[in-house]
Amino acid sequence: MKRLNVNIDHVATIREARKTIEPSIITAAVICEQAGANGITVHLRGDRRHIQDRDIELLRDVVTTYLNVEMAATEEMTGIALATKPDAVSLVPENPNEVTTEGGLNVVANFETIKSAIERLRSAGIFVSVFIDPVNEQIEAAKRAGAQQIELCTAEYAELTLSSRAMHGEGLAKAAAELERLRKAAEFGSELGLIVAAGHGLTYRNIGPLARIAEITEFNIGHNIISRSVFVGLSQAVREMMEAIRQ
Ligand code: PXP
Repeated sequence: MKRLNVNIDHVATIREARKTIEPSIITAAVICEQAGANGITVHLRGDRRHIQDRDIELLRDVVTTYLNVEMAATEEMTGIALATKPDAVSLVPENPNEVTTEGGLNVVANFETIKSAIERLRSAGIFVSVFIDPVNEQIEAAKRAGAQQIELCTAEYAELTLSSRAMHGEGLAKAAAELERLRKAAEFGSELGLIVAAGHGLTYRNIGPLARIAEITEFNIGHNIISRSVFVGLSQAVREMMEAIRQ
């Protein structure tokens, strides 16, 4: 059975738009868990644009399923993870000017920094995933650096499948090729003994083909679920995504 971690950053994005106390990230986490989500994911960014340090502390006390914190492999972030002990840390690249994470971490180019962050996190009993592009050298480097899981960046696939109008002819062929690239990367990661997750830009519409790749066992999905929750409520939005994954 595939696992779904709901990324609730955008609940905090709304709260931070007014620098106020609502909507509550804690209520959001509890609703996601009650709807059947397997875990909660949040991204603590260097600029604290949505999730705040205090959110991590509160979520650590409240989340009973699985708390996955995405962060850059910096000294500051490693220190916060060691102090709050989430179940998992997902190392991601971070560029202060980006609207959202733009691609996978370059483990090959930043090998020593990433390896040392992984060692420190793992020695505290934290499970470590690295968010990378579906490229064999990056997968091998993630393994050598000591990661237990890779999360394949699906941004390219998401871009290619965003509009159903583009999904014929050349558009369809490009999306199929990217799906194949993700499938091969998932198989390669799994052969190396890594657990394989996927995420970024996934939606009710484009999740199906990825959910049928046996080696991918976990999804981290945020924007699409929180967007839909505006219209149908968070519980319903989470349940619909779980159905879409299981079909
Ligand atoms: N996985 C990672 C590593 C991410 O950085 C993000 C965005 O924070 C997601 C998954 C979720 O992406 P989306 O919000 O587009 O579903």
